[in-house]
Amino acid sequence: MKSLILTHHPEEKLQFLDIPKPVPAAGQVLVKLKAAALNRRDQWIREGKYPNIQFDTILGSDGAGIVEAIGEGVAGDLLGKEVIINPNVNWGEDPKVQSKAYSIIGMPNNGTFAEYITVDADKVFAKPQHLDWAEAAALPLGGLTAFRAVFTHGQISEGKNVLISGVGGGVAQFAFLFAIAVKAKVFVTSGDQEKIDTCLNLGAKAGFNYKTEGWQKEALRSSGGFDVVIDSAGGNQINDFIKMAKPAGKIVFYGATNGMPQNLDMFRLFWNQITLQGSTMGNDLEFADMVDFVNLYKIKPIIDSVRPFSEAISAFDEMKKGGAFGKLVLLLD
Ligand SMILES: NC(=O)c1ccc[n+]([C@@H]2O[C@H](COP(=O)([O-])OP(=O)(O)OC[C@H]3O[C@@H](n4cnc5c(N)ncnc54)[C@H](OP(=O)(O)O)[C@@H]3O)[C@@H](O)[C@H]2O)c1
Repeated sequence: MKSLILTHHPEEKLQFLDIPKPVPAAGQVLVKLKAAALNRRDQWIREGKYPNIQFDTILGSDGAGIVEAIGEGVAGDLLGKEVIINPNVNWGEDPKVQSKAYSIIGMPNNGTFAEYITVDADKVFAKPQHLDWAEAAALPLGGLTAFRAVFTHGQISEGKNVLISGVGGGVAQFAFLFAIAVKAKVFVTSGDQEKIDTCLNLGAKAGFNYKTEGWQKEALRSSGGFDVVIDSAGGNQINDFIKMAKPAGKIVFYGATNGMPQNLDMFRLFWNQITLQGSTMGNDLEFADMVDFVNLYKIKPIIDSVRPFSEAISAFDEMKKGGAFGKLVLLLD
């Protein structure tokens, strides 16, 4: 089968290779992938900026397809089912935090940038019927990460004042769509006015360009402060969020694209009883809840572009360049 593999090659780390189609072990299913989607993590693995990198691994954490074969002990009614894949491996027993054995498909286990993948049978979920293949493939990793950040940690609900930072991000767009669905008062930031305009059309109260000087004051003035801020950029901006949070507000972050802050406004943090909450992916129950939520509210992921698998490397280059709004999707069929 055709697959996109991380190799030792000094210049071109990503190579299309033909390798044998995997065979499902006991308890597993073989999924014929119809579409897969990129995450920031894939490009970081390409750049060597990810822990525990194993060469000769098929990349890709997001995928959707059809169950083509089953291993021993798997219920036969899964055969032929249209599914999306929960990318979690070994979350573990504690719903609050992942186990030491936790990983995500696409590193170090083989991922979705291939014609086929084998996964444990309990990791496939019925594809939401209102989504096409590209939309379904765009959902798993970003949807799960956003779901935990927005609901488990953020406790976002109707009427809450919420700021989604860097809304153009693959995960942030889901946080935005989820918060809008439950009728929170959602404000956004982006470095791109077009993305802000899209969000205003989708129900955002206001949007601010984080590249514009003084946006923080304007955001505070027009919102009156935020109950919850959802961020993945990190960096010094965290102190702006601490200032913009309402007393007892929460800042939930699931990434730190811009690195660490040089300092942290601890005085305001403790005085205003603000919570800084880290979050990562989500447990398997949250994945099931996320899929139910997406079905209930008929959420449609924002897709930046869809291209054939043969052009996958250009999608990595685009991820590196930045500027996309929504997910970069590959069609495998
Ligand atoms: N913990 C987890 O489980 C988990 C899961 C997924 C991702 N992540 C991490 O979360 C981060 C985002 O991932 P992603 O896949 O959503 O990446 P992505 O699609 O590349 O999105 C990155 C976004 O960051 C925004 N950004 C850049 N500079 C910013 C700034 N100064 N202030 C606010 N926003 C800024 C941009 O938003 P605009 O385009 O709107 O300007 C950009 O679109 C990465 O660090 C990733 O590793 C963590």
